[in-house]
Amino acid sequence: MFDVAPSVKSWEDVPGPRPLPLLGNTWRFTPYIGGYSVEHIDKVCLALREEFGNCVKMTGLLGRPDMLFVFDASEVERVFRGEDAAPHRPSMPSLNYYKHTLRKDFFGAEENCAGVIAVHGDQWSAFRTKVSRVALSAGAAAQYTVPVAEVADAFIQRIRSIRNEDSETPADFLNEVHKWSLESLSLIALDTRLNCFNASEDSESMRLIDAVQTFFLSVGELELRAPWWRLYPTKMFRQYVAALDTILSVTLSHVEKALKEIKANGSSKSLLQDLVTAAGPRVAAVAALDLFLVGIDTTSNAVASILYQLALRPQVQERMYEEISKVLQDRPMKPGDVNQMPYLKACVKEVMRMYPVVVGNGRQLTKDTVVCGYNIPKGTQVIFQHYVMGNSDDYFTNASEFRPERWMNRSPAQKHHAFASLPFGYGKRMCLGRRFAELEIHTVICKMVQAFKMEYHHEPMDYHIHPMYTPNGPIRLKLMDR
Ligand code: HEM
Repeated sequence: MFDVAPSVKSWEDVPGPRPLPLLGNTWRFTPYIGGYSVEHIDKVCLALREEFGNCVKMTGLLGRPDMLFVFDASEVERVFRGEDAAPHRPSMPSLNYYKHTLRKDFFGAEENCAGVIAVHGDQWSAFRTKVSRVALSAGAAAQYTVPVAEVADAFIQRIRSIRNEDSETPADFLNEVHKWSLESLSLIALDTRLNCFNASEDSESMRLIDAVQTFFLSVGELELRAPWWRLYPTKMFRQYVAALDTILSVTLSHVEKALKEIKANGSSKSLLQDLVTAAGPRVAAVAALDLFLVGIDTTSNAVASILYQLALRPQVQERMYEEISKVLQDRPMKPGDVNQMPYLKACVKEVMRMYPVVVGNGRQLTKDTVVCGYNIPKGTQVIFQHYVMGNSDDYFTNASEFRPERWMNRSPAQKHHAFASLPFGYGKRMCLGRRFAELEIHTVICKMVQAFKMEYHHEPMDYHIHPMYTPNGPIRLKLMDR
């Protein structure tokens, strides 16, 4: 314990919903009885701030550590800036179990070779250092500008082939966006085109597509519902493990290929080959696996959400179109183009402010810490509520209005708190794929606005947590060729 100033209040004093004896607060998430819903944690959090203020304690959740929800950007900044060398982000227990128990022989075979997802402390720090030297280097993302644009072109071609007679996308459009995201990420992480839009049955691509889909379908269920898999291997858990095994075996086979190419060429020519050269084949394979686990549905849900928001705003699209046309003048995209498109970038930021795919990011405290004037014990999960802060008038003038301009040419008076909207996290553990995600998103949005006028003619969609924050309903966009 460290000495706390007398003015600092205790953990017991933090306001929050009271846990019931035996039932804790878990019952509040019981359908029809509890009033709280995991799927609508966005609304639960808005209500909690309204009732209890900027710092809310959530205790007594079965199988979970105590949590502290923080809605105050200055406190978020203080916690982030006070982080030690190895910040601990609460991670998916099922993945933890996969890496550290079930497949311990593989992930524990070499020192510091378990990856960054569901890994903590010195092991995380050593692995992250090896990978970030390559993945965050200047130009690591820019080298993919042209191939990522080619994937975006393939996506547009695909859309043209699946639109109905009213030029509307099919009800399962989100699936197509997932395919685009998987195609883009395979290019970056595995140095390969999977041809997701036309993959043949029995191909390696199809095995990977199925495995990734199974992983995403099951991970939300395994993490958000009662963890029966801890007691026995449920059917869903077995499918989840098989999917992870498939993704890992595919990444390993591509690392083998990369090794051969490096030998043949005498140098490395891609992110994967750079990783193999700098950190060895096992690190490269595990890094690729981790990028797959967190880099696909984040990006695809963000793109689906941006397209939907743009379809509601023809004037915004027109302004983007003018900007894009001025920069590209009908030539193909090249590195650096998007830097000449401040309005496009601002639109993406504005959607991520209002509808961040990750509604709250968190840290498990590695030491007792004062937050919002309370002494919060080590081990507590502190959750930074970016959805709520991003939509609060306390931090953004007229927060409910879509105003991309707020991100452009900001005068000191227009400046907002830098920690109120952090879609990619912050600090030593921030998103490792941010540059790649931005490249993919900016490129595909640029291409979509160039190709189509987008409209939406159905009931407005609410958002839900699934497990990303995403429009709830079939994304039926009317996409008319320009
Ligand atoms: C819109 C797209 C994306 C969003 C909003 C997003 C958001 C995030 C957030 C909030 C975190 C946690 C950061 C923190 O704890 O401070 C994170 C971590 C991470 N992201 Fe992303 N991400 C996106 C796309 C990607 C992509 C495309 C990749 C891979 C190419 C990727 C790889 C990672 C990795 C490996 C981590 C874990 C870093 C670590 O723990 O050291 N992300 N991301």
